[in-house]
Amino acid sequence: MHIVITGASRGIGAALAARYRAGGHDVTGTARAGGGDLVALDVTQADDFGRLAAHLGGRAVDLLICNAG
Ligand SMILES: NC(=O)c1ccc[n+]([C@@H]2O[C@H](COP(=O)([O-])OP(=O)(O)OC[C@H]3O[C@@H](n4cnc5c(N)ncnc54)[C@H](OP(=O)(O)O)[C@@H]3O)[C@@H](O)[C@H]2O)c1
Repeated sequence: MHIVITGASRGIGAALAARYRAGGHDVTGTARAGGGDLVALDVTQADDFGRLAAHLGGRAVDLLICNAG
């Protein structure tokens, strides 16, 4: 599966990302600052979703985990 997890820089989101990757899934993680393999996304800023959409490039998302908070 291709899984998108918001708020994947630490805590529950990072743990979920690590677990899913260990299980062979492809994870796109986000965080406000981005960096590394994280896409920069502040979920309170509507304009930031364009960056995520551009990163995904129309690729299907099988599971979206709205964890950022
Ligand atoms: N821990 C618990 O016991 C518990 C219990 C019930 C519910 N929850 C919920 O579970 C979720 C994760 O909890 P957690 O304890 O793992 O939190 P956490 O350690 O504070 O991590 C929050 C994550 O969300 C990101 N984030 C915060 N504000 C954001 C924003 N405006 N836009 C995008 N990303 C944002 C942070 O990344 P950056 O700071 O790098 O952007 C970080 O990756 C939260 O929604 C929380 O309310 C947690």
